[in-house]
Amino acid sequence: MRNIQIGIVAIMAIWGKLIFVLAINSQSNHLGYDDIQRAFKKGRCQSCHPSIWREWERSFHAKAWTDPIYQQAASQIPNREATCDPCHAPEPVLSTGLGKMPKLRDADRESGVSCLSCHMDQNGTMHGPEGSLPAGFHGDMINPNYAQDPMLLCATCHGQAHVMVHNQVSSFRQSQAKQQNKNCATCHMPAIIRKQSLQSYTAIEGRKHTWRGSRSKSLLKQSAKLSIQRSDEQVTVTVINETGHILPGDGLRAVILEVSFGNQKERQVFCAEIDTDRLKIKQELRLKEDEVKQVDFTIPLDEPVSAKLFYRFLPTTPEKEWLQIAEATAP
Ligand code: HEC
Ligand code: HEC
Ligand code: HEC
Ligand code: HEC
Ligand code: HEC
Repeated sequence: MRNIQIGIVAIMAIWGKLIFVLAINSQSNHLGYDDIQRAFKKGRCQSCHPSIWREWERSFHAKAWTDPIYQQAASQIPNREATCDPCHAPEPVLSTGLGKMPKLRDADRESGVSCLSCHMDQNGTMHGPEGSLPAGFHGDMINPNYAQDPMLLCATCHGQAHVMVHNQVSSFRQSQAKQQNKNCATCHMPAIIRKQSLQSYTAIEGRKHTWRGSRSKSLLKQSAKLSIQRSDEQVTVTVINETGHILPGDGLRAVILEVSFGNQKERQVFCAEIDTDRLKIKQELRLKEDEVKQVDFTIPLDEPVSAKLFYRFLPTTPEKEWLQIAEATAP
């Protein structure tokens, strides 16, 4: 008797599962995880989303693996497959979980942080903002972690507590920019109105996939304000961090203040001191979010003062290649 009961329960369970599977399949004939990966490699994403593809292809997300500066740095790290590579060639982050440490991909590492790294879930469905029509080619799912606020998506790689050298999210969380409802995309993915794909009929608001960073001179010029206040011999030079996060955002960079008067030149370096064989921060001397840094001098009345702010890309960047990002003078 008991065996028969178990048998019936088992049959019902199997039927239930079958009906469930059939229901899913009749709802969507979309490609699954492996098919989408093949489609990406064959260039299908590019064929329907050419503008976004072009922007991504030139961005440092596309180059996150091939970037020679990255490869050089990672080659110094004994256990790079565990400590470095997972963020530079990640499995789709929706499949590991937003905010969790990414997993290293086996295949196709050359495509770095790819479309699939950011958009695809474990079923091959693309998550993103609300569109103008169903995608058709692939499954689509509206997910507020894209258009509404992508911070958690970005935090997966730009906010790991054990990788402070690449962490902008921790400082951003305390910033005025966050209080003013700005997010990572506000400054790094400028808004644009266009058709999302070649199959779309209507242009709607989306965002450029350019991720301008410290290689963009125009963005760097927005990173800080520099001014000089003088009353007689008392001179105060003020630097204000306007990035919404720690400045410079990456631990390998530096911002250098140079103040000149008479035949003197005073310098102050805002950077992190890094342990190169692990990329850990030994000492933090960067400007905090919204920090107002004031440096005082006593300077003879007949000596005019000038101040310059430079951006140094890497510790090895020669002085003549430092980029001037702001300037101020006082008579
Ligand atoms: C045959 C055309 C076609 C191909 C190929 C295609 N897409 Fe789409 N995709 C669309 C359409 C249509 C939309 C909806 C656009 C709109 O709303 O205007 C869309 C929307 C999207 C969205 C926005 C979120 C969503 O799902 O609605 C993402 C992300 C996306 N596609 C990524 C990709 C990626 C990655 C690939 C390559 C694996 C790809 N697409 C290949 C047609 C295509
Ligand atoms: C680093 C993560 C990331 C990568 C890589 C990425 N996207 Fe996006 N994508 C986003 C975010 C965030 C949005 C939401 C932008 C917004 O607010 O509209 C988005 C939006 C979209 C949209 C909707 C249109 C729009 O501009 O909002 C499409 C379509 C899309 N992405 C396709 C792609 C394709 C195709 C690729 C690869 C060529 C790609 N994405 C790579 C993060 C990413
Ligand atoms: C899956 C991991 C991952 C995610 C998610 C991600 N990034 Fe990145 N991002 C990287 C890596 C790795 C690099 C460094 C590439 C390199 O080697 O230069 C990078 C570089 C950048 C840069 C610097 C580009 C340059 O020119 O130097 C910016 C800006 C940036 N990301 C912004 C964002 C924003 C905004 C988001 C969220 C919408 C985001 N990223 C999501 C991994 C990620
Ligand atoms: C948690 C994810 C993550 C891990 C782990 C990680 N990186 Fe990165 N890496 C990034 C992101 C994100 C950027 C983009 C700049 C930033 O956010 O500071 C980046 C940028 C870089 C850059 C600058 C490249 C350029 O051209 O500007 C170098 C070099 C680098 N990483 C080396 C390493 C090394 C070496 C390791 C291992 C010790 C490592 N990274 C581990 C996420 C990561
Ligand atoms: C108010 C505008 C603003 C907001 C909001 C903002 N950033 Fe930035 N970000 C900048 C500016 C300006 C720079 C260039 C100066 C620097 O290196 O910090 C920068 C630099 C960066 C860099 C360094 C790129 C490199 O090449 O070294 C990364 C990575 C980055 N931001 C990621 C993020 C992430 C992730 C968020 C969200 C948590 C975010 N940013 C929010 C303005 C902003």
